[in-house]
Amino acid sequence: MCGIVGYIGKNKAKSILVAGIKKLEYRGYDSSGLAVIEDGVILCKKAVGRISELEKVLDGNCDESNIGIIHTRWATHGAPTYKNAHPHVDCANKIALVHNGIIENYNYLKTKLQKNGHILKSETDTEVIVHFIESYYEGNLEDAVRNALKEIEGAYGLAIIHLDEPEKLVAARHGSPLIIGIGNEEYFVTSDVSAIIEYTKNVVYLDDGELVVLTKDSMKTTDIDSLPISKRIEEIQWDVNQVQKSGYEHFMLKEIYEQPQTLRDTMLGRFTTDNSVVRLGGLQDKCELLRSINRSVIVACGTSWHAGLIGEYMLEELMGMPVEVEYASEFRYRDPIIEKNTMIIAISQSGETADTLAAIREAKRKGAVVLAICNVVGSSIARESDCGIFLHAGPEIGVASTKAFTSQIVSLFLLTMHLRQISGKATDLDKELVKKLKEVPSQVQSIFNNDKKIKEISRIYKDSSNILYLGRGYNYPVALEGALKLKEISYIHAEGYPAAEMKHGPIALVDKNMPVVFIATKDATYSKILSNIEEIRARGGKVIAIASEGDSEISKMVEHVLYIPETVDALTPILSVIPLQLLSYHMAVMRGCDVDKPRNLAKSVTVE
Ligand code: G6P
Repeated sequence: MCGIVGYIGKNKAKSILVAGIKKLEYRGYDSSGLAVIEDGVILCKKAVGRISELEKVLDGNCDESNIGIIHTRWATHGAPTYKNAHPHVDCANKIALVHNGIIENYNYLKTKLQKNGHILKSETDTEVIVHFIESYYEGNLEDAVRNALKEIEGAYGLAIIHLDEPEKLVAARHGSPLIIGIGNEEYFVTSDVSAIIEYTKNVVYLDDGELVVLTKDSMKTTDIDSLPISKRIEEIQWDVNQVQKSGYEHFMLKEIYEQPQTLRDTMLGRFTTDNSVVRLGGLQDKCELLRSINRSVIVACGTSWHAGLIGEYMLEELMGMPVEVEYASEFRYRDPIIEKNTMIIAISQSGETADTLAAIREAKRKGAVVLAICNVVGSSIARESDCGIFLHAGPEIGVASTKAFTSQIVSLFLLTMHLRQISGKATDLDKELVKKLKEVPSQVQSIFNNDKKIKEISRIYKDSSNILYLGRGYNYPVALEGALKLKEISYIHAEGYPAAEMKHGPIALVDKNMPVVFIATKDATYSKILSNIEEIRARGGKVIAIASEGDSEISKMVEHVLYIPETVDALTPILSVIPLQLLSYHMAVMRGCDVDKPRNLAKSVTVE
């Protein structure tokens, strides 16, 4: 959940480290710290709060060193305080270390260290690692790290420096992502490539159980027992502009507006010219395997879970396949039934969500085929799955997921079409469906013309304490997503419900102060949802409807209507979610919230 950057090379480390960690601030931002080797000492500077606070502390300090590590923290063990901020140092102040992940046996290790006279100063799990390295150190940092890691149970991505070996940076990974960037006479370590693509696009993804030793001009990767491992250098496809705000006030707004393009990117190269065949590179040699599947379980968290619900409806409607959708965190701790022909579909933007990763490991252990729908190439989930579909949506920086969600829906649709094709279910309808899919990006673009109106509605309701979101069929998951978006970034309490289910509880909350957002497009459940609107109106609730273009009837029934173009039911969520993303964005901005970095939330939840 936190962010790490490390540097060793011909340039001064500080500015590279600070610029890099700022790109990762969205991953965790309650405190931060840097350590460099300078003037024969480890200089370690920390600050509580945003990275701008650390920059103040660093002003005029730590300017000369060519080696260093930096960290931004999202607290798991111990409050966000100065003492608990990383880097952590050993008793002699010779070793400095930054860590992502959680050390599970840290209480036991702490007691052991204290018995041996170590003085631990923080409440973190991390600090035990640096003291173990100290206790094993006999003149070679990598050996000491190796021995220390053998004591540790849990997840880590680590970067470590030692005063006595100022030409060396050691990094290690187990369960928490770590990437090495290769420059010219310089190396970078990072937990997320966006921190370093300004400097290099050539990277090596470390795997679990690997340790790397970097000098300014060399890199050596081994396993924990020192066996050499040869690694492939990969080239990152994202460019620097993709991780900048491009003139938008917030990443979230930029990402909302990027969707016509990101949706096209998700579809790019995935059809034959006559729209008759869906081609998915990541499933190319899996036809036989996929044909044998007769049941799917979708596992995911947060917004990705909502995409999963839409996938369930699609696979049932268009493939006739039984599907269940599970929160990854629940799935992993139950005893899920995985039969021979069960496929697990793991959906994750980051590809690093701890619960989703653990769920696929559990499923694989039970013999399931795992198909991943991921955005981040090289992520743990992408690499540990048997096959998959990449979103190609580019980096998503805003904590609240937007463009990844719509690309996930497209990917699930492509998967459904592919399965229909390889199982002989495709008909003339399929060409028509692909045609409809291809219209979606420009339909999304047209919804942005309503932004002024969405802003006006946001102004009216921005001070609400509660908002209800209701939808049926494919739009029920959209109601959940709309409510999640709003609560994440504006801190207004919001609930999503299947519209009919509202009668079994939420309707008790409805009075003249309760705005209710209805997603009431002209689909199979349209007439039913009109009755639900009447029920809310009868109790004085204020209704904002997301409706199909040309539906003039509905405008007579409700306070506000936001129109969206019509498409087939399965693709409607891509369109109906857009006004909801904008509604939550505007309300949050009007309430003075930090939309890109909402309190208590992190972009990538790499702890359980
Ligand atoms: C966090 C993020 C959400 C995201 C969820 C799942 O809670 O704030 O935006 O939907 O994690 O993340 P994933 O990367 O697995 O899609």
